[in-house]
This record gives sequence, C-alpha cells and structure tokens, in this order.
Amino acid sequence: MESKPHLRVTRRQFVTNSAAAVAAGTLAAAFTPSAQAAPATEQDPEGQRTDRGPFRVIIDTDPGVDDALALLLAMRSPELKIEGITPVAGNVPLDLTLPNALRMVEIAGRTDIPVAAGAKMPLVRRLVTAAYAHGENGLGGAVFPEPKTKPIAQPAAEFIRAIVRKYPGEVTLIPIGPLTNIATALNLDSELAGMVRGIVLMGGSLSGGNITPAAEFNIYVDPEAARIVFQSGIPITMVGLDATRKTSLTEDHVRTLEAAQNPVSQAAAKIGRNAINHNRELGFLVGPNMHDSLAVAAFLDPSILKFKEYYVDVETTGELTSGETLGYSPRAGDLRRKPEMEKQAAAMNMSIRGSAPTLATTRTSPVLRDKFVPNAKVALDVDSAKFFNLLIGRLSASAPA
Ligand code: BDR
Ligand code: CA
Repeated sequence: MESKPHLRVTRRQFVTNSAAAVAAGTLAAAFTPSAQAAPATEQDPEGQRTDRGPFRVIIDTDPGVDDALALLLAMRSPELKIEGITPVAGNVPLDLTLPNALRMVEIAGRTDIPVAAGAKMPLVRRLVTAAYAHGENGLGGAVFPEPKTKPIAQPAAEFIRAIVRKYPGEVTLIPIGPLTNIATALNLDSELAGMVRGIVLMGGSLSGGNITPAAEFNIYVDPEAARIVFQSGIPITMVGLDATRKTSLTEDHVRTLEAAQNPVSQAAAKIGRNAINHNRELGFLVGPNMHDSLAVAAFLDPSILKFKEYYVDVETTGELTSGETLGYSPRAGDLRRKPEMEKQAAAMNMSIRGSAPTLATTRTSPVLRDKFVPNAKVALDVDSAKFFNLLIGRLSASAPA
C-alpha cells in the first residue's frame, strides 16, 4: 500500500495531541469475518503500536445531522485516506445532502477531497426523507454559508467504480445513508464487488427498526439497493441500531466541543446543540444517536464494538416490513446450542429459508441458501464511553499541521 510520509508524521503528532488519546493501533486489516478479529497492528522501532494506514475509503452519505459529525470525524482521522465523498438522497433530498457534504469539507479544510453527486432517488421507490429528525435543511436547523466548492463532474456510482478499479483490493466503502450509490456502482460493473476491500455500513437492525417497527431508515429507503449490497459477497460490517441506539449525544459532549476553539469543533457543537434542542422539543429524554459516526469509529477502532457473524438478508416485498434486515445464525435465538456443539451445528448445514410457500407457488419452503455462510459481522453492542472519547476527542483536537 502506498504510504504518505507527510501524513504519517502529522498523524503521530495529531494522535499525541488528541484529547481523546485513543489508541491508534486498532484499525482492522480487512473486514472479512476472520480478519476483523485480528487488528492490523505492528510495532514501530520505539515499541509503540502503529497501524498500517492510511487506508483508502469512500464515504457515502446523506447529511444529515449524524452524517455531518461522521464526516468531520473521518476528516479528522489520519488513519483514513478519504478518496471521495459521495452524497446520496436520504435524510433530505440530494439538493441538500450535496451542499451539506461540501460545507463539511470546507469546514474541515479538506477541499482536496473530491465530492461526487449521487442518486436523487432510490432504485425503484419514491424517496422518503427524515426531515422530521434532521430538520428541513438536514443539519438540524444549524445554518452554514453556501459552499463555494463544487462537486466533481463524475456521478457518484461511476466515481466509486473508478476508484475501486484504480486500487483493487484496497478501498473500503463506508456508506452511512441509503445504499443506492453503492448498489448502482455494483450494477455498473459485475467485477467490482471482488475488488472492494470491505464495506462498513451504518444501517439495519436485528432488534427492530426506527422508521417502522421492522426497518431501520437507511435500509427502509432503498431496500432493493441494500439487498444487492448484502448479496454482493463483499465482506460487510453492519453497524445498525442494535449498537447505535446506545450512543446519545449529551450536553456535556456539546460543551466540550464548544470549549475547543477550532472550526470543526465549533461546527459540530452548533449542529449537536441544535439537534439536542430539537430532540427536546419532540419530548425525547436523550440527545440524538450518533449512528453514522459509530460506523466510522467501527473502522477506526473495531474494539469499540462487539460483533457476531450472521447471514443478513433484506425484506423487499413486505407490505409492512420492507427494509427489515434478517440475521440468520446457527447460534441465535431458538437455535442456540451448548457451546461445545456450536461448530457441529454450523457444520449441520443449516439452510436459510424464506416464508412458507403459498398455495399458488411451490410445495416446498423456499431455500435461499442451502447452508449457513455468514455475509456480515453485525455490531451488537458498543462501549459508548470509549466511542465518545474517540468522537469528541478528535473533533475537539486541533487540526494536524
Ligand atoms: C440512519 O438514518 C439516518 O436518519 C441517519 O443519518 C442514520 O444514517 C439511522 O437510522
Ligand atoms: Ca445517514
């Protein structure tokens, strides 16, 4: 992997100066189910842990209050070589998510990062937005100047394809909005999935939804796209509501951000304070969840979360349940066995079944996969304090020189 000496030096200074003082040696080598448990660390000559970054990533996003903070976190994380940012319609329409992404790039002083406009609509559905949670402008009502920076001419899906092809096996996609851009890129090029290093996404839930009882918002908005992504064969880390619901921004967090005198912390504080006030007006007892920052954090430091392997599929035809993510596992719910029999159970080739056949179809229950093969590591728990140390610490720290 190409190394950037100047970036290495500033990363070291940056991490040393960071109020978070998070351990910088825990970035996963790749997000394959087996590799994720083995962080890509090595010892430098002084015996300190170092990672082998910077790692190439593309952030696909629909800013969005929590997207905005996630973007700022990513741009303040020297382990990441952000190849591009690809806004998509989601929380608000594309004509707001695109300028919001450009605003974040300008605030972070990172106009070197290409921003490529993505899909205006989900693959086959009408767009459902979440202005009720993110405000009409997508940033919880926090107002920032019109961005001067322009997006690149290339559309997001083509851009994603070009970058992944340019660096085969090196690029991790971090989608934190509906998966329309990612699915469109995969649809453009049947070889692309095999060249993506991994996907670390915010989306889905194995414990109930937020926009419907079944579905989490990002998957609900474009379930067909999500299904393409989950069935792509790309190693997936799913950071869904099971974990993100445990991350509420507090007054204390905002005060820490306000006290730090840098443009990133000030912008994050402004967005955070508006979002907390908005939550209060709606009667919520806690501040907004930092869903999307947690996905970025999962890439930076997987030890923040606890994961379990599942075969995840997406409901696309339900009248009430479209966008639901189903997690199949031989080690879940009623299928739990004595620990010593777990391997044996997995070896029993548990099939992945769909709904019972109707009279109009076949006699047999549809088998979607004839044996259990996990396609995702699903985050089931989070060390919330450790996560906020990372998030608030990095947003508060001064920018690297
Ligand atoms: C997800 O939906 C959006 O509203 C947030 O930005 C996050 O990506 C949470 O369900
Ligand atoms: Ca989002």
